[in-house]
Amino acid sequence: MKLNNPVARMQKRLFAWGMSKTGLESDRRIALKNYPDCATLADLKQQLFAELSEGDTILEIGPGAGANLWYYPQIIHWIGIEPNPFMHAYLQKEVEKVGLRESHIYQGFAETIPVENGCIDTVISTHVLCSVNHLETSLKEITRVLKPGGKFIFIEHIAAKSGTTARILQNSLKPAWQILFDRCHPNRETGEAMAKSGFDLVKFQEFAVSFPIVSPHIAGIAIEK
Ligand SMILES: C[S@@+](CC[C@H](N)C(=O)[O-])C[C@H]1O[C@@H](n2cnc3c(N)ncnc32)[C@H](O)[C@@H]1O
Repeated sequence: MKLNNPVARMQKRLFAWGMSKTGLESDRRIALKNYPDCATLADLKQQLFAELSEGDTILEIGPGAGANLWYYPQIIHWIGIEPNPFMHAYLQKEVEKVGLRESHIYQGFAETIPVENGCIDTVISTHVLCSVNHLETSLKEITRVLKPGGKFIFIEHIAAKSGTTARILQNSLKPAWQILFDRCHPNRETGEAMAKSGFDLVKFQEFAVSFPIVSPHIAGIAIEK
């Protein structure tokens, strides 16, 4: 990613610094409303990532500063595809802290994942599909890289229902929100795109968090054919 514009560089650097302040502790403070058996985001991640098996090849799109690494088994081959170059030093530090045995960090995009077809056991995305440039292309890429029967595990915030106050708020705050949060779309219809994306099975739960612009959320697992 070329970042010749000094303002864009500063935004990316600041965003990376901000993300480096998130992790297990902040996940424990994010309360979930109406998600069975999970009171916090940390509980939810623990439940979903319990699906990962030792020895698997796991590819994470947009891992940011590595907030999810603490939840993974140590004996995996972990590949991180992160476009923001200022995240990489934070990520590398977290990889070393948690003691992942085998890891590769690439600067790249979910729209063009730099791995061969059908070689990944599980793809992970948490709060990334809201920011990708092309949602449908990214979902297609995820299905391309997964092995048959491979899993896509996701936690994403999505657009509130059309016509609600929450949706009006999301629509109107979007321009400022995108400047502050690295092009994040607060009103993206990610659930609908997932349902059309060609996965064999998409199973997700919708739930709320207390900050309306990023509520509701969906979390679940999709299986590649
Ligand atoms: C809100 S952060 C979430 C980071 C991390 N997944 C987490 O849950 O803490 C969004 C991340 O998506 C990354 N991102 C943005 N566009 C992307 C793209 N097209 N492909 C892959 N990652 C992208 C950003 O650089 C950032 O690291």
